[in-house]
Amino acid sequence: MTHLLFGGMDVVELAERYGTPLYVTDESKLRANLRSYKEAFETIDTDIYYAVKANGNLALLKILASEGAGADVFSAGELELTKLAGIPAERILFNGNSKSAEELREAVESGVKVSVDSLDELRVLSTVAEEQGKEVEIAIRVNPDVSPAVHPKIATGLKESKFGIPFYEVTSACEEAKKLPNILLAGLHCHIGSQILDVNVFSEATKKMMDLVEILSEKGIALKFVDLGGGLGIGYRREEKEIAPTPKDLAEAILPVFEKMMHELGINLKLVLEPGRSIVGSTTVLLSRVNAVKRAYKNFVAIDAGFNLLIRPVMYDAYHEVVVANKINERTSELYTVVGPVCEAGDIIAKDRKLPKVERGDLLSILDAGAYGFSMSSQYNGRPRCAEVLVCDGKADLIRSRESIEDLIRNQKIPARLR
Ligand code: LLP
Repeated sequence: MTHLLFGGMDVVELAERYGTPLYVTDESKLRANLRSYKEAFETIDTDIYYAVKANGNLALLKILASEGAGADVFSAGELELTKLAGIPAERILFNGNSKSAEELREAVESGVKVSVDSLDELRVLSTVAEEQGKEVEIAIRVNPDVSPAVHPKIATGLKESKFGIPFYEVTSACEEAKKLPNILLAGLHCHIGSQILDVNVFSEATKKMMDLVEILSEKGIALKFVDLGGGLGIGYRREEKEIAPTPKDLAEAILPVFEKMMHELGINLKLVLEPGRSIVGSTTVLLSRVNAVKRAYKNFVAIDAGFNLLIRPVMYDAYHEVVVANKINERTSELYTVVGPVCEAGDIIAKDRKLPKVERGDLLSILDAGAYGFSMSSQYNGRPRCAEVLVCDGKADLIRSRESIEDLIRNQKIPARLR
């Protein structure tokens, strides 16, 4: 029986050593994914602001920081993580459609850039910066009204979407920003969606953003950067050899439009990208032990990881390849539906998959779980979150301890009258 190797390590051994469920990340894949962005965009001044929401593990952030990545953060918590990882403030953009005054204060205090999502926010930010006697560089988050062919819950640039200032109001928002004290308008920002497999929609968004750059430039408003967000998809359907575009394909979609307009206007802008999934998605597997195999109306494989640890299949009907890690070369025999331990009928990780004969005690590996896996996990059903391990050159390190039952209880308080 052959075992699945990941990052040069036998995952069956890792599961024995660290227990299951277990997220395992391959450091060399992570570095390679970031480098492929840098190579694809090396002909032009580009910064990669890794989207921390995809996976906020500090060890991963440290690795990305060492490769020169900046960060897109969406909360004070994510900001703190990037600071701890040593990502310099000038390469951090604080995003979000609903930032509290406290979060804006944190952003100004830390000297990071802020992507402003509404006029309300713009005005509060100006006041906050004035109070602190500091200037803050901002980008205006544009709603570009672009429709990628992705799950509706992850399309973010539709005109109905909650994100960004409507395309037709961006110019007046920029004019207001120019007048407000302590605000330095530096860029335009958009993010059109996630898991995008057709790069043409990126050309369309770039064109719309560059049209705005032109309008602003005609009004004498000069910018330093344009941030086109993240969104590049990955090939989750490995069995079907799903072809996902590469950063090079992305560059080929964006750069001709971007460079043509810069040339026409005689300006130079920095390009910023905010990939999340395409940096971390393929770097990680989720290992999970089979607790029971049940022949019922369907063949169920009940494992110890459910939507408490990987919510994507339930939330977006997302597909993750599943392999039996301790029977990697065995012939597939029948169809199985892989379900988690959560008390909900919808807790299904994978439907009707052809797998080798599965038995209690087998180890399943859920592939491409590095993006929006652990970061969207919860303690639902009183289940502590699992551990994370980093593998590199045949060595493994624990990068997050398994939570304990004590962690579930830690912040709960019983009022005196109930004691
Ligand atoms: N920039 C902004 C402003 C974003 O909102 C996002 C993702 C990104 C960058 C990174 O996008 P990526 O390169 O990862 O596609 N939980 C969903 C995905 C939600 C994406 C939210 N925003 C999933 O599991 O599919």
